[in-house]
Amino acid sequence: MLMPNHYDPADSVERLAALRSYEILDTPRESEFDELVELAAEICEAPISVVNLIEDHRQWFKAEVGLGIRETPLDISICRHVLLQPGITMISDLRDDPRMCANPLVTADEGLRFYAGCLLETPDGHGIGTLCVLDRSPRLLTLRQQSALKTLAHQVMAQLELRRSLRQKTLLLEQKEMLLKEVNHRTKNNLQLIVGLIQLQLRQVHDKEAQTALMDTSRRIMSIAAVHERLYQTDEVGTVNVATYLSQVVAGIRATASHEITFELDITPARLSLDTAIPLALLVNELVTNALKYAYASPSFGQVSITVKPENELMVLTVADKGKGFSSGFNPRKSKSLGMKIIASLCRQLNADFVFVNNQPGVICITKFSAATHLSH
Ligand SMILES: Nc1ncnc2c1ncn2[C@@H]1O[C@H](COP(=O)(O)OP(=O)(O)OP(=O)(O)O)[C@@H](O)[C@H]1O
Ligand SMILES: [Mg+2]
Repeated sequence: MLMPNHYDPADSVERLAALRSYEILDTPRESEFDELVELAAEICEAPISVVNLIEDHRQWFKAEVGLGIRETPLDISICRHVLLQPGITMISDLRDDPRMCANPLVTADEGLRFYAGCLLETPDGHGIGTLCVLDRSPRLLTLRQQSALKTLAHQVMAQLELRRSLRQKTLLLEQKEMLLKEVNHRTKNNLQLIVGLIQLQLRQVHDKEAQTALMDTSRRIMSIAAVHERLYQTDEVGTVNVATYLSQVVAGIRATASHEITFELDITPARLSLDTAIPLALLVNELVTNALKYAYASPSFGQVSITVKPENELMVLTVADKGKGFSSGFNPRKSKSLGMKIIASLCRQLNADFVFVNNQPGVICITKFSAATHLSH
């Protein structure tokens, strides 16, 4: 039984909004839908099958076999008449149906005679189109064919739903990533603000020791700011490329160093999480600052090398200089100095082993940590 045609359901604003929310209209053919119409035609033994979406002025075919066109005006649409009819609508001879008998698709020589369509219904109950089969002679579908057509129509809707929720998720993810970048941007700005405040305070302080302490603190904060800067500049939210990040951190320290010091960097590109990148950068900051402070008599020539390389499952950070080395009897692990305490605490955060080699000349610090992220080039 067809519903009486008091108003044209094709014009319903809510229905059209529901249809457009799938963003499927005028998209290219896709095998997922092509395969469903091919199967419908085969099971129903019909020469024509269509995934037909009904807009207010046209019917547009996401997939079809046996028609060779992608759309027609709505006034010759057969499917538009079944938009209020849930499930299967079957018309055994279109010439006997008063709504279809004048339709040029039906009256033409070799015109359409048989129609069976299953409504494509959204979860909110809007009919947005049909999965239908057509034939050029009057006939019927068996119960099994009807049931298969219904199943295939559900599959069409499942595909449409899947694409829509995927698109919504991608959009949400993009918004989250934007937000995260914004937070990182602000964090970096706030850290720079703190550094600015420290610099101001530095001008008021005349005690040498206090000045050094304030400068060290501001350098440590700058290392953290650098990671947040990298984080909003990369596309991969939440991780940084250790090579670019450490180069930036070292460049910051270098700016304060004597020009005669040469820096050698050999860092395997790898993406590190924030939890690893920040303590690692602070560690590099402590070790490189120490090398600059203590290794060479100032001003003098010298060299500091920083390498990060994978070794088995771990990453190995090496910071080495060729300077005067630790004074005899100095045990970095037993030292009460702040720098060594910070180094030990950062290594604990990294779950890392570290060892100082008093190499005569120079000091080498080797730290092995696990980086649960992939290498990228
Ligand atoms: N690369 C190095 N070459 C020679 N001596 C070093 C080197 N690194 C550290 N030292 C020695 O180890 C001591 C302890 O270093 P640490 O970083 O703990 O303290 P600091 O640099 O004096 O103070 P802070 O780091 O708190 O500013 C230094 O005072 C220095 O004598
Ligand atoms: Mg130090």
